[in-house]
Amino acid sequence: MSSSKTSKKELPPLKNVLIVGSGGRENALAWAFSKCPGIKEVWVAPGNTGTSQHPCCHNLNIEEENAEELLKAYKEKKINLVVIGPEAPLAAGLADKLRENGVAVFGPSAEGAKLESSKAWAKTLMNEAGIPTAKHWTTNTKKEALEVLNGLQKALVVKTDGLASGKGVTVAESINATAEAIYDTFEGRHIAAADQVVLEEKLEGPEVSVFALCDGKSMIVLPPAQDHKRLKDGDKGPNTGGMGAYAPALLITPEELEKIKQSILEPTLNALIERGIDYRGVIYAGLMMTSSGPQVIEFNCRFGDPECQALMPLLGPELAKVIQACAHGSLNLAPELSTINTFSACVVAVTHGYPKSPRIDEEIKIDLQASENLQIFHSGTKLDKTGKLLTAGGRVLSICANAENFDEAFNLVYKGFNEIHCEGINYRRDIGHQVRNS
Ligand code: AMP
Ligand code: GLY
Repeated sequence: MSSSKTSKKELPPLKNVLIVGSGGRENALAWAFSKCPGIKEVWVAPGNTGTSQHPCCHNLNIEEENAEELLKAYKEKKINLVVIGPEAPLAAGLADKLRENGVAVFGPSAEGAKLESSKAWAKTLMNEAGIPTAKHWTTNTKKEALEVLNGLQKALVVKTDGLASGKGVTVAESINATAEAIYDTFEGRHIAAADQVVLEEKLEGPEVSVFALCDGKSMIVLPPAQDHKRLKDGDKGPNTGGMGAYAPALLITPEELEKIKQSILEPTLNALIERGIDYRGVIYAGLMMTSSGPQVIEFNCRFGDPECQALMPLLGPELAKVIQACAHGSLNLAPELSTINTFSACVVAVTHGYPKSPRIDEEIKIDLQASENLQIFHSGTKLDKTGKLLTAGGRVLSICANAENFDEAFNLVYKGFNEIHCEGINYRRDIGHQVRNS
């Protein structure tokens, strides 16, 4: 079987899917695939407690970068499609290794994943393609970075070039704080020392996440979503992986979304094509809605977490076929992706001490039942030998609900948390404040 045949008029049969990853995002993807007609088995490697609990979902004890074992499982389980969730295996070339072996993969090559794994690379691409983004300076030494700062005499955003699990960006409030962030980043005080540091002008405005499903040549844009990165209510406290999300983000009208497609997403895909990259996967544009229009804050090469959890319940049963079509480079063969006309809310619960020093191994009791419009997606949980559910990571689980309006959706989510019991668990009470009346 070849992932690059586009001449066929029909996509091959799709029964068994393998999802790579172990977070809430992958739990939501597994759940969404398992509901698509024709899907028999959803395998998740390595998966989590949640992914082992949905009907027709099973975990595979294989690490997410182990291409050899994944290929073995691909053959043994007669898998038709591999979906790679997180950025690290993409940046490490997992999609390339699988494709070389004829696997249909949804997820870009290592070269395409540079959109996320090298901020300097992504900025160059954006400038060349005329994509609106903050002015930037790529620097290779501390001295060079400090010279830029001295010349500009204003606070800047300091970004380490490579993947940094959300810890590589400082939005400095002053010139001194910018200098300190430059020292920290080059000297590796918080994360591994950077070889390259991108300095950026500060932008202002609300942030929105926009996702395009790409087949290398064309794309489908999903409803926009809004993440909440800060730990505490009122968007205060340190940055996290994401404390909650909702979709659709009403901040962007359908007309504006179409403009964003034409002025940001399509030019990005075209710039990738010009670089010889056959990008089959998600282009995630993190946008800031500034007074002079949407600007790209960052690109990611995968679905957002927790935006994915909020989005999946809004997508129709064609999703599996659409993703398969992207993997085959043939979106033209996919059915139209329908969206469900409701409002989706997702709130993430984290352990005590997250993000600095998450306390794990606390018992979790879940008395809440999932239903048609309410899901519990696991991220950092595990079962002990006796089958007791314990916390295993900073972000523990999320509750997602969808309803006729945002108030109802968030009420369902927050009511749900009364039935989750775990010492020290914490969640924001104001997720969706932008769209809630109650
Ligand atoms: P990133 O990892 O690039 O998304 O950055 C993390 C967060 O830093 C973003 O979600 C923004 O809140 C903030 N940020 C990044 N770049 C800028 C910028 N140029 N201006 C203002 N805030 C920024
Ligand atoms: N929700 C932010 C991210 O996935 O990077």
